[in-house]
Amino acid sequence: MKSYKVAHLVKGEDLNHHGTLFAGRMAEWFTEACFVAAASKYGKTESIVCVKIHGMRFSAPMNKGDIITLRSKVVTTGTTSITVYGKATRENDDRVLLDGFITFVVVDENGNKMPHNLEKPQPSNEEEAALIEEAKKLR
Ligand SMILES: CC(C)(COP(=O)(O)OP(=O)(O)OC[C@H]1O[C@@H](n2cnc3c(N)ncnc32)[C@H](O)[C@@H]1OP(=O)(O)O)[C@@H](O)C(=O)NCCC(=O)NCCS
Repeated sequence: MKSYKVAHLVKGEDLNHHGTLFAGRMAEWFTEACFVAAASKYGKTESIVCVKIHGMRFSAPMNKGDIITLRSKVVTTGTTSITVYGKATRENDDRVLLDGFITFVVVDENGNKMPHNLEKPQPSNEEEAALIEEAKKLR
């Protein structure tokens, strides 16, 4: 499975009233990172819309000055849907700070869903196989 990577520096304007990274800012970064994987797989950014953010689990706070890396990969596809797994870590640290799934749908120029004819991603290890199984249960 092809993985996409986007990095962000946590700045003062990204913080909440606790002084840690604001969840809404991370939601934007997470959505964009997952969108990059879906749109790259399909090949056209204008045809991809988000139908469901299944969940974002924050496992640890992120702080001002952190460089946060978001990785995303398409884990399953249906007829019109593309489901992406995304996770955030600090640069040079494998601990997962946040992760979750987003499902996108391919649409035509009128915004109607459209078959994408994409092949299902194949897992290359046990972790990817587990993500596929998890993604299949999402709704
Ligand atoms: C995306 C949209 C065109 C889908 O149309 P729809 O008639 O609701 O489509 P369906 O319910 O048949 O679902 C389409 C696909 O999404 C999947 N899907 C829908 N809801 C889902 C959910 N909650 N979880 C997982 N997959 C879901 C369906 O399983 C189907 O997948 P498949 O074709 O691969 O089998 C329509 O809901 C829409 O325009 N939504 C607004 C999109 C938007 O503005 N997003 C924010 C900005 S990007």
